[in-house]
Amino acid sequence: MLAQRRILLIIGGGIAAFKSLDLIRRLRERGALVTPVLTRAGTEFVTPLSVSALAGEKLYSDLFDLTDEAEMGHIELSRSADLVLVAPATADLMAKMAQGHADDLASTLLMATDTPVMIAPAMNVRMWEHAATQRNLATLRADGITVVGPNEGDMACGEFGPGRMAEPLEIVAAVERALAEGPLAGRRVLVTSGPTHEPIDPVRYIANRSSGAQGAALAAALRDLGAEVIFVTGPARVPPPAGVTVVPVETAQEMLVAVESALPVDAAIFAAAVADWRMAQASDRKMKKTKGGSLELHFAENPDILATVSRLEADRPALVVGFAAETDDVIENAKAKRQRKGCDWIVANDVSHATGIMGGQENDITLITGDGAEDWPRMGKADVAARLAARIAEVVTGA
Ligand code: C5P
Repeated sequence: MLAQRRILLIIGGGIAAFKSLDLIRRLRERGALVTPVLTRAGTEFVTPLSVSALAGEKLYSDLFDLTDEAEMGHIELSRSADLVLVAPATADLMAKMAQGHADDLASTLLMATDTPVMIAPAMNVRMWEHAATQRNLATLRADGITVVGPNEGDMACGEFGPGRMAEPLEIVAAVERALAEGPLAGRRVLVTSGPTHEPIDPVRYIANRSSGAQGAALAAALRDLGAEVIFVTGPARVPPPAGVTVVPVETAQEMLVAVESALPVDAAIFAAAVADWRMAQASDRKMKKTKGGSLELHFAENPDILATVSRLEADRPALVVGFAAETDDVIENAKAKRQRKGCDWIVANDVSHATGIMGGQENDITLITGDGAEDWPRMGKADVAARLAARIAEVVTGA
């Protein structure tokens, strides 16, 4: 997805610089071209040789650049990239950027560039929380710089808190988002998918036959249109697509929490087959066989995630899409469901046993919108996904 995209990677002087070596590999695995720049302090943490060997390109640094002006000036170097990425961005580098200093190669490049800039801060927790750093952060954000991380956790200095550099794969995902092309570039879309598992006891659960195929195909199609996709998935058989943010959940209640924390989004697609019921009280011990051979289970109703999001006052996505798996009177039931749940569209399909849709490769759908019902020809789930994603993009972008 990053094929032939050029990243100018500035490696600052912090212990997290070791992760930047892995970051270079991950970016290159995805086809990106990485031009590395190492600050003077950065050379204290990683060697110029390992950086340039992994990047497969010449390294630029204050130690070596004296002759480079003839080959490539800093202006050209700073502008030849699609993105300038600073990882790790130390407190000092952030301060220089916020103030507009240009007293070494890295800060000069950052001042001279006209391409988008992303930083992955990494520093001690106190330094991160310091008023000066937070002031600089606000300035950098206001200047249009994208910030990824930092994460919370144990730090090399022995303290705990926010300040750890984001993991290389998180940074790669942010880079992919920043460089995404397509009608949904810069838009956030939520997709729920898969079944839910509702525990009966520690070893048993109630589930359904959803494979997660349609949800995964939709997430991939929306990603291909450039969207940032938050993929909240129950335990599905079909693996999640690459290049989306996967939030794994088990139960309907967990799914609701994950969905609520993903908001706000531009569109939300509820393709999950959520269990309507859970055990009123799941047993914390394995239930034993009884002599008489009968067992009574007491159920409680699960939250309706689609209806909850459709009825939000604040943060309601501009487009909310539900699915209706029906076995009889598909269109009538789906139209009633659209009204009842308060969503914008319902993707209705007939999952009666004979159709082979649930768990199968194909889907036969009717799209119910405010304007009526559209019957689509039977087609592969990937084709349904591509067509639906294109329609979603039209609404989200107002095209
Ligand atoms: O009511 P029914 O389960 O048929 O509705 C299906 C639609 O509602 C699907 O889009 C499904 O993802 C969503 N749903 C939900 N939470 C529930 C039940 C269904 O989001 N508890």
